[in-house]
Amino acid sequence: MENNCVMYNDLDGILYTREQLAEAVKKLGQQITKDYEGKKPVMICILKGASVFFVDLIREIDLPLEIDFMVVSSYGASTKSSGEVKMVKDLDRSINGRDVIIVEDIVDSGMTLSFLKRTLLGRGANSLRIATLMDKPARRRVELTVDYSCFEIPDAFVVGYGLDYNETYRNLPDVGILSPRIYADK
Ligand code: IMP
Ligand code: MG
Repeated sequence: MENNCVMYNDLDGILYTREQLAEAVKKLGQQITKDYEGKKPVMICILKGASVFFVDLIREIDLPLEIDFMVVSSYGASTKSSGEVKMVKDLDRSINGRDVIIVEDIVDSGMTLSFLKRTLLGRGANSLRIATLMDKPARRRVELTVDYSCFEIPDAFVVGYGLDYNETYRNLPDVGILSPRIYADK
């Protein structure tokens, strides 16, 4: 996709280009390959936001691994977390005794991941780490350790590379800052 497509008119600027994203994802894949040598982790994609990051990341990991998917929802059509996390789709398989890596698009308040961490550790995972594309530490409302993060970002609402506003913009190949005029008064 060229970056003159119509959706780019709704952005206040590009935060990370597709080239910067690819480079960061490759680096993270190499790190996970090193850290999990001799293991067979289960990588869990938190749908829908992490989907694009996830499919790129798993192809940069040089290990046998399994994948699974979860759907959680906390946002609705707003740009602020409701604070409530709801599981919409659970994993297909047991993670008892497994080394689990949760793959998320962005950590904001931390509510989603602290809920997921609690839930999955309660199912007997041998180890559990969090890998996120982006982290907004300034907005954290609960204490949470993020094990792998490609980018620390300022407090802005970003879209693209899987991230949405009201289900749109997920297919932008770059990450951009959504112009507040798009969500003002909503
Ligand atoms: P948390 O529970 O507040 O940490 O929210 C995490 C979820 O909120 C992410 O998985 C995203 O779906 C969504 N989210 C948070 N910040 C943004 C953003 O800047 N753009 C798009 N989605 C976001
Ligand atoms: Mg999400």
